[in-house]
Amino acid sequence: MSDPSEFWDRMAERYAKSPIADEASYHHKLAVTRQHFKPDSEVLEFGCGTGSTAIEHAPFVGHYLATDISGAMLDIARGKANGQANLSFEQATIENIPGENRFDVILGMSILHLVDDLDATLSHVHRLLRPGGVFVSSTMCMSDKHGWFRLVGPLGHRLGLFPRVNMFKRATLEQRVEAAAFAIDYRFQPTPRKATFIVASKN
Ligand SMILES: C[S@@+](CC[C@H](N)C(=O)[O-])C[C@H]1O[C@@H](n2cnc3c(N)ncnc32)[C@H](O)[C@@H]1O
Repeated sequence: MSDPSEFWDRMAERYAKSPIADEASYHHKLAVTRQHFKPDSEVLEFGCGTGSTAIEHAPFVGHYLATDISGAMLDIARGKANGQANLSFEQATIENIPGENRFDVILGMSILHLVDDLDATLSHVHRLLRPGGVFVSSTMCMSDKHGWFRLVGPLGHRLGLFPRVNMFKRATLEQRVEAAAFAIDYRFQPTPRKATFIVASKN
């Protein structure tokens, strides 16, 4: 599969209809994230999908920029947001977003296992955050409990069935976040098979 946006464009309608797998954990993550918002906060979310999290958070901040590589995901997101004034959507990857020290909070939810280069992505997040800014992420660490995917993943990718998925353990993810000059302030993983939620501040 050459362009992962084609996969996500195809997935968009189905993704929009899929229910939240664990409502309690999702709402906990929303609440913890909001502790870092102020009424004038500038917030970026990359890999926003169909915009559900962006729509939940935007009323609590100054401006919320939600980005994704998939035009179809963003079309659905814009329809759901229905012109919410301080919420904008853009088709972009994190490396395309210009500037530095621009954002108070950056979110990357269910995306770090999908990016081409995790270290480069973390470095762009660091560049874009203001000093003391906060990076909030939730990531499926496939190597911890889904080791079988090490075989199925590359095969499915070669056959064009799904995009490349990075396999790493939670401990590796945490090391890479810290190596990118963040301090991890909060961790939450409801059960070992579920996504790892991390709040990290820019050193
Ligand atoms: C698993 S979905 C997660 C969507 C949303 N964040 C959520 O938690 O429901 C992954 C999303 O990331 C987008 N995506 C995949 N690779 C990306 C990349 N390199 N840069 C930006 N977005 C990407 C996909 O289009 C898709 O919308």
